[in-house]
Amino acid sequence: MTEIRDLTDDEARAALVLKWGETEPGVIPAWVAEMDYAVADPILDALRAAVDRGELGYPAFPDDGGELGRAYAAFAADQFGWQVPADRVLPTADVTVGVRVALDVLSEPGPLVLPVPSYDPQHGLAQLTGREQWDLPVDPDGDDYALDLDALDDLFARGARTLLLTQPHNPCGHVHTRAELEGIRDVVVRHGGRVISDEIHGPLVLPGAEHVPYLSLDGTADHAVAVVAASKAFNIPGLKCAQIITGDEATTQRLLEIPMAQNDSWGSLGVVGAIAAYTQGGPWLAALIERLDQQRSLLATLLAEHLPAARMRRLEATYLAWLDLRAYGHDNPAEIIRAGGVRVSPGQAYWPTLPGHVRLNIATSPARLTEIVRRMGRALG
Ligand SMILES: Cc1ncc(COP(=O)(O)O)c(C=O)c1O
Repeated sequence: MTEIRDLTDDEARAALVLKWGETEPGVIPAWVAEMDYAVADPILDALRAAVDRGELGYPAFPDDGGELGRAYAAFAADQFGWQVPADRVLPTADVTVGVRVALDVLSEPGPLVLPVPSYDPQHGLAQLTGREQWDLPVDPDGDDYALDLDALDDLFARGARTLLLTQPHNPCGHVHTRAELEGIRDVVVRHGGRVISDEIHGPLVLPGAEHVPYLSLDGTADHAVAVVAASKAFNIPGLKCAQIITGDEATTQRLLEIPMAQNDSWGSLGVVGAIAAYTQGGPWLAALIERLDQQRSLLATLLAEHLPAARMRRLEATYLAWLDLRAYGHDNPAEIIRAGGVRVSPGQAYWPTLPGHVRLNIATSPARLTEIVRRMGRALG
């Protein structure tokens, strides 16, 4: 049976040179979205074999989507029941690059709607592509993290041209339901807008929720692309290979016709890693979801014991918990928590003007998570 192997502290420090390497000794890292778990054996085997045969040149990019396209198509069919033609799978360096390329090439110049809170690098993308960013705040006191469709409609009516959707959501952990997505689609279609759907966390939906790819909805093919990758779910973000999924032939052609320099920097080992993950990673992914589900339950127990005033809506996907710690009275609780021996991500990275929130990475061992929440409780208490 495939099992998730926890890295020891020494292994984690050697393997995760950002998450662990840039955290001071004695502090437990629970910030950047990497998991303290060993990478799945089939991926490591495929990478070793590629290195052994010297596959270190440029990656291939066949017109029909090639092995990578077929691998993603089979994965999407298996995981999400979504039929994606292999030739609609276009490689790109990473998801952040893929979103920027889609924005640059496919979107009209008008403003980009960014639901906030949102993954921090997404905050720079509008400006980087010569656009204004119009925030769509998600009510921090609301019942769920669904988008406010009236506010979205208003932004498009006032001239916004593109929505950057992140689903499942980082940092909220929300999985948009089919009905929510249909509501979003209807607003976008009414205004002739576009959607870029960042679905990097799609494989990380936990029991109780279902990932509905935006492009799997009727009436989305001509106005949307999805940007996906094996990197988050399989812990291989340093390999640099994501995929832009297009919905129709015209969009595919527009992306294929751009100058090579606009989208040429994915790596051959990234392709090897992604193919191995998509074709052989299923059992490991199933074990991971089981582990993350356990971590989610453990977190609830630990919060009740050590941080009873913390608020957290149900984590439906990802291993990133968005904690509302406003009751503890600190604008930037991450600072106090770090002084208390845990590095979490400050909420302001995701929503610059929102006080009192942190993002906690729970993809670690049960023992570390227990110590993390105990230290957080002591620091804030
Ligand atoms: C929603 C979201 N998009 C993109 C990324 C970054 O992906 P990449 O490293 O492929 O740019 C992350 C990383 O955590 C993320 O959470």
